[in-house]
Parts: sequence; C-alpha cells; structure tokens
Amino acid sequence: MKTIDKSFIRALKGEILDTPPFWLMRQAGRYLPEYREIRSKSRDFLDFCYTPDLAVEATLQPLRRYNFDAAILFSDILVIPDALGQKVAFKEGEGPVLEPVRSAGDVARLNGERLHDHLAPVYETISRLASSIPETTTLIGFSGAPWTLATYMVEGHGSKDFPAARTWAFSGAFSDTGFADLISLLVDAVSEYLCAQVDNGAEALQLFDTWAGVLSPSQFERWVIEPTAEIVRRVKTAHPDVPIIGFPRGAGVLYADFVRRTGVDGVSLDNGVPLDWASSVLQPLCTVQGNLDNMALLAGGQAMETETTQILDALAGGPFIFNLGHGILPQTPPEHVARLGEIIRGRNETR
Ligand code: CP3
Repeated sequence: MKTIDKSFIRALKGEILDTPPFWLMRQAGRYLPEYREIRSKSRDFLDFCYTPDLAVEATLQPLRRYNFDAAILFSDILVIPDALGQKVAFKEGEGPVLEPVRSAGDVARLNGERLHDHLAPVYETISRLASSIPETTTLIGFSGAPWTLATYMVEGHGSKDFPAARTWAFSGAFSDTGFADLISLLVDAVSEYLCAQVDNGAEALQLFDTWAGVLSPSQFERWVIEPTAEIVRRVKTAHPDVPIIGFPRGAGVLYADFVRRTGVDGVSLDNGVPLDWASSVLQPLCTVQGNLDNMALLAGGQAMETETTQILDALAGGPFIFNLGHGILPQTPPEHVARLGEIIRGRNETR
C-alpha cells in the first residue's frame, strides 16, 4: 500500500475522514502488562531502547490489542543527549538523570560526529518496523525538540520550573553565553536524526516540545518557534512529502503563531486548548491532533465518554487525528483504551 492511502497520512494532508484516525502518545509502555514483562529483561532503560528486538516488540504490543492507525517508534527523546556524549541515566522511581551542561565549555565538549553510529540501533528498529507493521498503519518517528531537550540537558533532571535552563536561555538571547550554541547544535542533531529516521522507513514525524509552555512569548519565539521552523525547513528540503506534527505543549494562544511560523503539517494540542478556539483558529491552518485529558482516560466511564464526544463533535468535521493531550499514565487500565477506541470507531454506526 502506498503511504498516501493510509488514513493517518491522509488526515495530515488535510483530508476530512468519516472516522478520524487515532493513536495515543505513550501507547507503548508501563500501563501494559506485556510491556512490564519485557521491560524487566533489561536493567537499563537506554539499553532497552537500543535493543532492536525489544524496541520492535514494545512498538508492536499496543497494535495487537487495539486498532490504532499509527505506531510510534519505541525509543526516548533523551537518546539525543546520550548520542552527543552527555552522560544520561534513568533511575528507578526518579526519572532521567544527566550530567548537567551549564557553560559554553560544556557545550563545546558535546560532539555530533558519532550521532548516526550511536543511533544505528534506533534506525535498525525503524527499518524492521517498516516491514512488519500492518499495511494500513503509519509508522511515526520522533524526536524531542531543542528547547525540551535543553531543559533536561541543562537542569540534569526533570523539573517544574527549569531555573537553570530558563536563566541561561534569557542571557543567551542577548549575549554569547553558549546557550544559543547548544540550541543550534540540537537543531543540527535533531534535523539529521529525523532525516535518518525517514531514510529508514518512518512515514511521519512528531517533535515533542513538552516544556514549551514555561517560556515567555519572546523566549518562545526564540527557542521554540525559530528552531522548530529551521528543523522543518531542513527535513522538508530532504523529504518534502513527509508530514511533521509539532507538539508545543502548554503554548496557549501561541499555538497559532507556532503553526503559522513553523510550517508544520499538524499540531498536537494539550488538554488546556479550548475546542471552539482550536476549530476556528487552528484547524483552518493545519491538521489538529488531540486532546483528551489523560486523566479522563484513567478515570474512564461517563467522564471519558462525554469528553471524547465533545472533542469529536468540535474537531472531527475538519482535518483531525484523535489523541490525548499528553501521554498515557502508567496506572491507566488497558480496558479504558479499548473502550475509547470503540467510542471513536463506533460513532458513525450510531449516528
Ligand atoms: O509509546 C510511545 O509514546 C513511544 C515511546 C516514548 C517514550 N518516551 C518511552 C518511555 C516516547 C515518544 C517518549 C517521549 C518522551 N520522553 C518525552 C516527550 C513526551 C512527553 O511524554 O512529554 C519526554 C519528556 C521524555 C523523557 C522521559 N522518558 C522521562 C521524563 C521519563 C521518566 C518518566 C516516566 O514517565 O517514567 C522517561 C522514561 C520513559 N520513556 C518510559 C517510557 C515507556 C518509562 C521508563 C521505563 O519503562 O522504565
């Protein structure tokens, strides 16, 4: 089947489909017992990501249970700092821990030369998936966007307010302190990484900018919009037909500037974006994806049904892909995901 016949790709090219395509961020992962089972075979999470047998299996697990229209490569955004030579570890119950990058000297020690060698197992995973997923399913490749990668690289761990990254970003916007060099190194690495994913069989791409919402408007322009626009330009130069979805989570009204200025084909909405605004302002500009609250999926029942129906009523009349506003939570009962699929798929028969 040609890529263009797939409903997920058609939605990203602007088509309005009777039943919207759907997939869920973090559709592979700890809420599935079969994932916990294979995950227990590796002590180290990055080793797990770099083992194609395990990463292929983790990607395919949710497809066996649910008829998602897309499969997302199983990996993590932090493979990029790892490939650039920064020390990255995932600690049980603590999340990622990195040796912080805090100065121009630290940035100069990062090295993009071994990027593709280091990420070869990820490319191998993609090419195996490209030949093994169902023919109507789209294979999504992804990367963290530069700002969100920088928050982890500079802070050295997850955070709520990112004091080190945000102060360095402010000074870096006005003088040569190294922060702009870090972002530009990340623009190079992410662009090359995404192009290599497409060369190996990824059919669509998503850029995760999970922490875009903590920036002031001027900083959002400088560290979210500008780097994303440059990545989109470079990837599109090499691969003009591959659709790209941006996810500037928490961007609020700046979602509109983001879409107008970056050239993305689709935008993933967090659960705070009002549906009427999304349909009147964003949907005329590009395909929208989203935005069920992951807590509504965890809660299930009437709340999930009502929220899902409201999203479909507001957005399914335009170019649309159903998804969550952020990744599935590990405590989510797998039956709720099955029920969600029935609501989305069953709608045309019951109307
Ligand atoms: O199914 C999928 O979505 C594909 C795989 C995927 C993972 N991480 C697997 C993962 C994807 C697309 C990501 C993206 C990611 N990773 C983001 C952006 C999206 C988002 O959710 O905001 C971010 C910020 C990260 C960084 C990250 N990875 C953190 C902060 C953590 C620890 C917190 C947590 O949820 O455990 C991870 C670990 C991680 N990445 C796990 C999985 C399945 C859990 C680790 C494990 O199984 O031991």
